[in-house]
Amino acid sequence: MSKVTVVGAGYVGSTVAQYVAEKDISDVVLVEIDALEGVAQGKSLDLMQAAPINGHSRSLKGTSDYANSKNSDIVVITAGIARKPGMTREDLLRTNAKIVQEVAEKAVKQSPDAIFIVVTNPLDVMTYLAQKTTKLDPSKVIGMAGVLDSARFQAFISMELNVSCEDVRAMVLGGHGDLMVPLPRYSSVNGIPITELMAKDRVDALGARTRDGGAEIVGLLKTGSAYYAPGASVSQMVEAILRDKHRLLPCAVMAQGQYGLNDVYIGLPTVLGKNGVEKIVELKLTDEESALLKKSADSIKENINLMNQLLVAV
Ligand code: APR
Repeated sequence: MSKVTVVGAGYVGSTVAQYVAEKDISDVVLVEIDALEGVAQGKSLDLMQAAPINGHSRSLKGTSDYANSKNSDIVVITAGIARKPGMTREDLLRTNAKIVQEVAEKAVKQSPDAIFIVVTNPLDVMTYLAQKTTKLDPSKVIGMAGVLDSARFQAFISMELNVSCEDVRAMVLGGHGDLMVPLPRYSSVNGIPITELMAKDRVDALGARTRDGGAEIVGLLKTGSAYYAPGASVSQMVEAILRDKHRLLPCAVMAQGQYGLNDVYIGLPTVLGKNGVEKIVELKLTDEESALLKKSADSIKENINLMNQLLVAV
């Protein structure tokens, strides 16, 4: 029986727990801070009570004790805070870095063989920190962003062309944020490049909407940020790993020479299987696409440096 620990029983964490159990992928342990242990327990119990209706036998357990996460196959980190009005980018970076560091340290002690999937923002930087903290091989520490960004691009393409999203494939690389790099040339409706199906200005508009996909949801929700699509994205990665599916999915991974990038976590096409990242696939990019990817990597590196300064200052 596989075991997935999800740290942070907020909106994203509990949605990950729901999809992972309801898609019959794995048992789940939901970990929270002491003060919110009851929330993790309550959500787990609620999901257990939905199980007879949804027809699965997966167990869910809420806790604040990491001992319950022992020997997990996968640890998903969603713990953190969202940026609130008046908070600077540095404040967010400092707070979430401290949380991710603490969570990664505690979780890896219990599960030294686990594969870590990081969801906390700023995503690429937090994934880098989780890898440095756990000291696991980079193939075992992966950030969830590309699956979500690509799913958003796919949803917008399907709405634009009025075709089933089941037939739409899309690839979005780069950092998770303003500098992500949607790749229309590698996005298609059942193999037909979207560049053949719509005018360039529409392709660009969908790319821009994808780039602002998270902010659009925040604007509508007013409080909090997206969780259904992020939760579904994590569950797809968890499934690919636990079922050793060798799926080719864009994920935030440590570049070690690929695309001319080094020592930076950034969204690249990867093959995911039971050992985590089995391969980083190198696509031929145009000069423009390469320049965008480089710009994205430079910005992530700047944030990694800033984070390192902030952590030293603590
Ligand atoms: N250990 C465990 N859980 C923690 C810790 C910690 N040290 N610090 C915070 N948490 C928990 C909070 O108590 C909260 O329940 O993490 C949870 C975060 O949940 P939400 O505030 O609902 O945030 P959510 O919308 O789930 O987003 C989580 O994912 O997509 C990203 O930007 C998003 O960084 C954010 C993260």
